[in-house]
This record gives sequence, structure tokens and C-alpha cells, in this order.
Amino acid sequence: MTVVVLLGAPGAGKGTQADLLAERLGIPHVSTGDLFRAAVRDASPIGLEARRYMERGQLVPDDITIQMLLDRLTEPDAAGGVILDGFPRNRAQAEALASALAEGGSKVDRAINIDVPTDELVRRLSGRWVCGESGHVYNESTNPPKVPGRCDLDGSPLVQREDDKPETIRARLDQQLASLRDVIGYYDETGLLRSVDGVQPIDQVTTALLTAVAEGAASGAHEAR
Ligand code: AP5
Repeated sequence: MTVVVLLGAPGAGKGTQADLLAERLGIPHVSTGDLFRAAVRDASPIGLEARRYMERGQLVPDDITIQMLLDRLTEPDAAGGVILDGFPRNRAQAEALASALAEGGSKVDRAINIDVPTDELVRRLSGRWVCGESGHVYNESTNPPKVPGRCDLDGSPLVQREDDKPETIRARLDQQLASLRDVIGYYDETGLLRSVDGVQPIDQVTTALLTAVAEGAASGAHEAR
């Protein structure tokens, strides 16, 4: 089982890269943000609760988030591993993940921070468009669709995320960067952390991430010997 954690501020490119890595590594992309957005669309109890926090740019409480993620990890497609995008977001979530994986005899293989300065994050989030059906991510200046306003994969209309309004972008960055630093510190202490420069073309970021994942796999194999 291969478990890769992608860390990074809102807009760093976690979702974009998780999709690409999932294709390359043959394991699913699991995003707590996507799980919450699906729950909001379904108006489920989790969705109704999560929406109150998401629209203010705040983290959803840990009890809801951790249970939702751990339930997702029990689905059959996650048996061979996952690319985690947006989880863990704080130390309590990181510890809960480590305990749950340890119970099944596995662990996080590599945590990788995609490093992007704040000015660039704001620019990227302001220009982001997503497929209303598949959630595939575009950017009007850095990663445009082939046909304006339409998803390359299925032709569905592109929409802007509710939390990409300018005031919510600022709130997300103000409120979430401290806990990101905390979780980066956690993985640094456990020796699992790598950082990649996120201000490069998308394919170059993917190459750097694949190298970091391969190093994690090599050191895991070494430890197991
Ligand atoms: P979530 O959906 O996880 O949002 P986020 O972390 O704020 O991250 P984003 O999805 O905004 O950005 P990204 O890093 O994936 O960047 P992307 O690839 O889209 O969470 C939403 C909310 O749910 C949270 O605010 C919170 O309320 C709640 N939540 C989720 N998880 C939670 C948890 N664990 N605990 C508690 N609450 C939780 O790229 C951004 C843009 O940049 C795109 O337009 C893209 O095309 C472009 N781009 C990407 N890479 C590049 C590049 N290399 N160069 C130029 N442009 C690029």
C-alpha cells in the first residue's frame, strides 16, 4: 500500500497534481475538499455542517473530517494506496491518520509540501475554473481549457468554486496557513517530509513529486530490509 500526502496552501496545486499522480501511480486521488463539496451538493448532514465552515474559509471540525476520511479509506479502490489531497490539515488529523494506518499495518510513505508564495496563490485561485461534473481543474491564464468555458475531459460547463470569491480566498489564507505550518512540522519531525517548488510549469512539478515519491519508496524498502 502506498500512501502519499500532498501538502500545500490553498491554490498550491494539490488537486491538479493529485489527479496526475493518481494516473501515473494507479492509486486514487482522495480529496477531503471534494468529499465535502459532494456532501454539500447532496445536502447530507455532513454537507450542511461543513458548508458553514467552508463558506467562511475555516477548517471543518476534526471529528467530522477524520471520520469521513477514514471511512473513504475503507473503500475497495483504496486498498492499494491513495494520494491524499487536503488531509491532514493539522496535527490531530495527522496523528489520527497514522494510528488508523498502523492498525492496518501500513503508514504514510511520503508527505510532500508544494511550496508557492502567497501572491501567486491569490492569483491562481482568482483565475481558477473547475468542471461542474468531474471537478477537473483549470486556470484562465496558466492552465486554460481547449474550448473556453468547457471541460477538456467531458465538455461539461466550467464553474467557479463558492470559496474562490476574493473575500473567502483571503479568509482561507489567513486562517489556514498556521495549521499548514503545524502539519509540515509534524512530517518534518517524522522524517517523511519533502518540499517541491510549486512555481514551475505543471509537468515539472509532477516530475519533482514523482521523484520525491520514488525516494520515499526506496527508503521504505531499505528500512524493511
Ligand atoms: P480544498 O478543496 O482542499 O481546498 P484548498 O486546500 O483550499 O485547496 P484548493 O483546492 O483551493 O487548491 P489546490 O492546492 O488543490 O490547487 P489547484 O490544483 O486547484 O478544501 C476546501 C475547504 O474544505 C477548506 O477550506 C475547508 O473548509 C474544508 N476542508 C477540506 N479538507 C479539510 C480538512 N482536512 N480539515 C478541515 N477542513 C477541510 O490549483 C489552483 C489553481 O492554480 C488552478 O486554477 C490550477 O489550474 C492552477 N495551477 C495549478 N498548478 C499550477 C502551476 N504549477 N502553475 C500555474 N498554475 C497552476
